[in-house]
Parts: sequence; C-alpha cells; structure tokens
Amino acid sequence: MTIFIIGFMGAGKSHWGKSIADSLHIDFIDLDEHIEHQENMTIIDIFNTLGETPFRTLEEKHLKQIGLNKDTIVAVGGGTPCFHNNMQWMNKHGISIYLRRTINYLEETLSKDFSNRPLLNNIDKDSLHSKIKNLIELREETYTKAHYIIDDINPTKKIIKIYDNLRK
Ligand code: S3P
Repeated sequence: MTIFIIGFMGAGKSHWGKSIADSLHIDFIDLDEHIEHQENMTIIDIFNTLGETPFRTLEEKHLKQIGLNKDTIVAVGGGTPCFHNNMQWMNKHGISIYLRRTINYLEETLSKDFSNRPLLNNIDKDSLHSKIKNLIELREETYTKAHYIIDDINPTKKIIKIYDNLRK
C-alpha cells in the first residue's frame, strides 16, 4: 500500500512522512530527493537550467515509476498533484492524504527559509503572504480531492489510524 502525502510547500510533508514511516517500520520516499538523486541535479538547478515545464515532466515520470508493491509513504512536492493527471493517478494507485495548513502557518514556516524553493526565491518577505494565498487558491481544488484531509499540525495519530484501518 502506498500513502501519498500532499500539501503546500512548508506543510511538513517530508518531516511527518519520514517520522511516521519510521515508526511504522515501512519505507519512505521524498519525491523531490528521489528526483535529485535520479537526475543527479538539485531541484533548484532543474528549475534554473531547464525550467518549470521540464521539471513537471520529470516529476510525473518519477512519481509513476515509484514501486507500488511495498508499504511506503511518499511525500510528493507541493505542485505534484496539480500537474498532468498526477492527483488522479495517486488516488487510483494509493491513498492520498492532504496536510492542510493555514496561510499564516505556511508564511511563518516558509519565511524562515525560502531560498531553496524555486517558486518563491524571487520574492521578498512582504510578498510572501500574497504569493502563498494566490497559489493555494489555485491548488486547493486539486488538494481537496485527496482521500483524507488532516489539519492537525502533528498528523501522526491520524495517519497511523488510517494505515491500521487499511491493513485490516
Ligand atoms: C514545488 C514544491 C517543492 C518542489 C518544487 C516545486 C511546488 O516541493 O517540488 O520546488 O510547486 O509547490 P516541497 O513542497 O517539498 O517544498
């Protein structure tokens, strides 16, 4: 069974995904890290040298090549569900969980360091709130297609419960 964790940049997808996978003793994949490893390039370099469209092509390719036959938690990128048919594909091949956060929460987390986020690195701190708000407005409709939506800052209990129920 594959659990896909989706949500905006700074929502904690990788942090919680890894920690929950460790406590369940199952595999964890961070899609961005996986792409960096496979392509031998950082996400920033892919955006800067190739651009966003080629990045989205690589993202789709690597998402769909992930092995699905072992219990795994996959933290995807913030934009992954919103391009190609990735959301539909994740819902068909696994269970999707949206870590929903308020704009203020995301602003607070992202303002600490957004230099390594290509979609945010040309903006100043004052524009961060409106940038997040605009992008969330565009993406929310897709994110809310997830099988589950979790608002808790620490989603551990709820994700473990979902996993246990699916295993029954
Ligand atoms: C992106 C989010 C990033 C990364 C890329 C694009 C997005 O992942 O995939 O910079 O479009 O929201 P994180 O959500 O892990 O930061």
